[in-house]
Amino acid sequence: MRQALVAGNWKMHGSRAMARALAQGVVSGATELDSVEIVLLPPFVLIPQVAGELADSAVVLGAQNVAAAAEGAYTGEVSAAMLREFGCRYALVGHSERRQLFGETDDLIARRAAAALREDLRPVICVGETQREREAGETEAVIRRQLDEVLKVLPRESVGQVVLAYEPVWAIGTGRTASPEQAQAVHATIRAHLRTACGALADRVRIVYGGSVKPDKAAELFAMADVDGGLIGGASLRADDFLAICQCAARGGG
Ligand code: 13P
Repeated sequence: MRQALVAGNWKMHGSRAMARALAQGVVSGATELDSVEIVLLPPFVLIPQVAGELADSAVVLGAQNVAAAAEGAYTGEVSAAMLREFGCRYALVGHSERRQLFGETDDLIARRAAAALREDLRPVICVGETQREREAGETEAVIRRQLDEVLKVLPRESVGQVVLAYEPVWAIGTGRTASPEQAQAVHATIRAHLRTACGALADRVRIVYGGSVKPDKAAELFAMADVDGGLIGGASLRADDFLAICQCAARGGG
């Protein structure tokens, strides 16, 4: 049985005051949700503050990206060791906003994931198709390509540490959540592909869904066999909405 995971990707939102209130709200509501792993992904500069708020709680800290290199002349990047030192356990890699707005390639994303794993930072690797790709019937091919690049560089024994996030680009921030059946179909494809590449380890990998997950949509998504939780954007900026989604995962996910 896979433990459900719900991660809140704050994207570029927040301030010290907002981070304090939001983290405190999540911590106080999380005490009765110990069957779900709850992860907060604030912007880099808020990580130390959120780490302080999460101390002594079961809520876990993560970052929204991680450098591919261990150190060096890489202006603007933050290494996996730095993130670990500040208490992060997870890092997103390959979010579609990074791919689309900042030109991150499959190869770079794979190297970011490998760098994270070398420091015992678990990568949450995002994959997903655009609207055009879906309409052209290319969803499976796109997801396979994104996965294969990562699987090429990751040591096989570390694949169980990885979280995969299926985030259809057309569902992110649009209010157009994938239907439970659409999500399940792609999650099952991802798991089958993982099984071909790394055998039984595929059953340990958590595959979470992201894209306009709201409290009223979460239960039906998390009830699907291969949907092991969620990656939440907008709804993670309100503690009550985020906790309501975590409650759905506690009841039906994993
Ligand atoms: P929304 O939940 O705002 O659609 O964002 C999803 C997302 O991109 C999470 O990483």
